[in-house]
Amino acid sequence: MNIMRKKPMSAFEQDVQKSELKRVLGKWALTSLGIGAIIGTGIFVLTGVAAHEHAGPALTISFVIAGLGCLFAALSYSEFASILPVEGSAYAYSYGTVGEIFAWLIGWNLILEYAMGSATVAVGWSAYLNKLLHLWNLHIPEWLCNDPGSVISGIKNGTMKAENFSFIGSIPVAFNLPAFLIIWIITGVLVRGISESAKTNNIMVAIKLGAVIFVIIAGAAYINAENWTPFIPERMIDEKGVSHYGWQGIMTAAGIVFFAYIGFDAVSTQAGEAKNPTKDIPFAIIASLFICTVLYILVVLVITGMVNYKAIDIKAPIASAFSDKGLSFAVYIITVAAVAGLTSVLLVMLLSQTRIFLGMAKDGLLPHKMFGYIHPKFKTPARSTVLIGAIVSVVSAVTPINNLAEMTSIGTLLAFAMISAAVWMLRVKEPALHRPFKVPALPMVASLGVLFNVAMMVSLKQNTWVRLIVWVAIGLLIYFLYSYKNSKLNNTKQN
Ligand code: ALA
Repeated sequence: MNIMRKKPMSAFEQDVQKSELKRVLGKWALTSLGIGAIIGTGIFVLTGVAAHEHAGPALTISFVIAGLGCLFAALSYSEFASILPVEGSAYAYSYGTVGEIFAWLIGWNLILEYAMGSATVAVGWSAYLNKLLHLWNLHIPEWLCNDPGSVISGIKNGTMKAENFSFIGSIPVAFNLPAFLIIWIITGVLVRGISESAKTNNIMVAIKLGAVIFVIIAGAAYINAENWTPFIPERMIDEKGVSHYGWQGIMTAAGIVFFAYIGFDAVSTQAGEAKNPTKDIPFAIIASLFICTVLYILVVLVITGMVNYKAIDIKAPIASAFSDKGLSFAVYIITVAAVAGLTSVLLVMLLSQTRIFLGMAKDGLLPHKMFGYIHPKFKTPARSTVLIGAIVSVVSAVTPINNLAEMTSIGTLLAFAMISAAVWMLRVKEPALHRPFKVPALPMVASLGVLFNVAMMVSLKQNTWVRLIVWVAIGLLIYFLYSYKNSKLNNTKQN
């Protein structure tokens, strides 16, 4: 058995030539896809908990730290994307460099990033939709906009009442219908085609960017500099022994808001549809990450300046900062934009998942009939898109957001750490390869990429690690039972 076999560069070149996808995306359309995937639940929701519980105004520093971890990974992604302009992202890159089993494991973890990430965002989307409906005095019954796990915790902590639910044994009957439906709507758009998807995405990105810039400009007038003092609140231990604030708090918050940056790498999965992938993909990855980092830092400065961190709302921090000042029109703008913004995150994440599966199916690691089939009219991987939509919609309807978010983060961090290591390995092994984009100061940047991302993994809970281990074990089982035998490399001379 040779589980470390690598896909030859010539096979990648053949893939590029044979690609059936339409090359319609230019560099700004790709950047827009990146921004579409990045700005979402992280900034609109998770900022609240991170500032209130862990970092206070120093959340700005947490955003810088998480952004740096992503930047190191982004540079590595860019170098690979310039060498291998194929769909498949980190999966394809490691297949050409480290070896098949690593590639499989990265692809398997990217399912956590994209599919699990989509489920996480769908739950956040449902919460914002509810908020919007409340503004119009419309109410969805609680059992139709929550998952059973959240209802059990809600009843325990007194925010929900048991009499509002029916039970099967001790399990409450609850189903997050809005989360389920939005996944199906996006699935429909994606089956129709990338060009339509890119246009839909551009509109939503424009709304989202408009709202974020509005928050920065309108909120700046309400900053009270006293709220920034002390900028790093003194570390304290609560009655349960949990540490808050100080530098440790800043690191914990960095782990939480890391989710806000996930998505820039989605650009690399669109290489098959890019007009000029070797140049435009690196541009779009770095541009989208840079734009979002700057906006995030400004938003966090404004929000922590408007509201004292102790009073920051955990559920909808940005909208609440404005409602506290009596600016109710702003709440409408922000809530509508959040709903649109989260929709575009979903669009790109689900799109990326289908493209990674497409890459894996072309390599024989997944069944081609399901994951490699391209619809003759729409030129999209239609069957795979519908299958993913079906699974993600059900998962998002019945799973609590925290579990989903942490699984997304751990899978993504592992992929980021591996890709940072892989770019270095390839430089050593194949120094002469043509690289239109090169990571500057590589050994240092690659080491920092591994270090930052592994450090953030370590900060995640033990339960999340157990789930990751189970997930990886299932992945290995599939690899040995199916993928190894069906890999195209069985019939190819390997390097
Ligand atoms: N970065 C994306 C978000 O925050 C996943 O929703």
